[in-house]
Amino acid sequence: MDPGTQLPDKLLSRISIAKAELEAAPEVRVISHYDADGISSAGVLSNMLLRAGKHIHVTMTKSLTDKLISEVSAGCKTMVLSDMGSSHLEALEALDCKVIVLDHHSPQKDSEKVVHVNPHLAGIDGMTSASASAVCMLLAAHMDEKNWDLLPIAFAGIAGDRQAIRGLSGLNQWLYEEGLKRGVVEVRPGSMLPEGGLLNGLIGSTDPYVIGVSGSPEGAAALMAEAGIPANAEVERLDDAQRMKLSSLLALRLTAQGTPMSTLDEIVHERYHFPRWGMSADALAGLLNACGRSNHEGTGLALALGDAEAMETARALRQAYVDEVQASLQRVVKNGLIKAENIQYFYNDNLGLSGILSGVAMQYFGDRDKPTLALSDTGEEIKVSSRGTFELLDKGVDLAAALRECGQKVGGVGGGHRIASGATVPRGRDKEFLELVDKMVGEQKARKKDAS
Ligand code: C5P
Repeated sequence: MDPGTQLPDKLLSRISIAKAELEAAPEVRVISHYDADGISSAGVLSNMLLRAGKHIHVTMTKSLTDKLISEVSAGCKTMVLSDMGSSHLEALEALDCKVIVLDHHSPQKDSEKVVHVNPHLAGIDGMTSASASAVCMLLAAHMDEKNWDLLPIAFAGIAGDRQAIRGLSGLNQWLYEEGLKRGVVEVRPGSMLPEGGLLNGLIGSTDPYVIGVSGSPEGAAALMAEAGIPANAEVERLDDAQRMKLSSLLALRLTAQGTPMSTLDEIVHERYHFPRWGMSADALAGLLNACGRSNHEGTGLALALGDAEAMETARALRQAYVDEVQASLQRVVKNGLIKAENIQYFYNDNLGLSGILSGVAMQYFGDRDKPTLALSDTGEEIKVSSRGTFELLDKGVDLAAALRECGQKVGGVGGGHRIASGATVPRGRDKEFLELVDKMVGEQKARKKDAS
């Protein structure tokens, strides 16, 4: 019999230490990232800690700074950081309290003092095979078997960090197998079509992003008419012929705009459905993401804690977010991307949207051979979001290293994952930064080419 996915002892032993620390703590200060994975992590941890009778105080933030670390640590005895912390170990080690880090970003080092739980340290790739929420879920499952009902929240983090699009692996796969045994998750076939109301779904879709259909009520209605589908159709009610016709038309449009087969395959990845929540991991990720991106992280957390009103608020935030993303994407398509030798970039005045805009441009209409960077001027500094593709990683590109090193060279900071990373650089130094990244990406590719 297939024994299923096994987890490395090194990961499990760190989880046991974290569990023991938390069991002994009456009060826990939680700091988490503000994106879908960060809110989902905070959601799993908060449910877990409240059930265990702990007093908690949760903060979600865009970025962890030494100043924030020192502020939140005042008077605190036990602190947990999720989806962040691995690149701040030195500052955390200097604190006078117990610190647990549950992160999945590439760590620069390990720690003797901090309980550092990071899948990379145990041979699991945190970029593809373990979201931060998955690490939190592993801890929650070890704290109490009853916490398996938190799996949908954890899966929103997996989906939010796009770790389900090429099939699950590593810790994510282990959680799925265990969830299946307990009947908390179902797998459903993937589809090119959105969930729910078709017209609205097509207009709001960024996965796939179809030029002339996404963001365009007229374009979406015309495409449905071409497929012989009435404007008020629900996706679940379509017959096979209608589904096939519409999916083929979408695939044709995508191919015509230069979207490669590999992206089309990713769009039709299997969906993880949670019967008790009545929604898929992608749908829940969409809600949490909209909360985080619109500075309503608290609503996302309340939703994860089961607040029905927060769910309604999140749905409204999601609609407003979708409208804003579509309007911004239309501007990026219209203005085009600026191409350097090895990268492509654009300036965007809506800071919170940089990640999604650069991701969609990279996946659906940009030059496949150049990582995409979105830059936003906050008035105080320039924030950068970069996205690559798996093909670019195969060619040697490492955006975490490029944005970290080039960010530092111009007096800023940067880091993240090889395929998705960010930086903050001083105003006026963005051009220099872009030149350095362009050069470094070229060097990364050349090094890989020489080695193979
Ligand atoms: O902001 P954005 O979504 O583009 O960030 C992509 C990734 O880079 C995230 O995982 C984020 O945590 C990371 N990042 C980082 N250091 C920064 C900015 C972003 O590690 N200064």
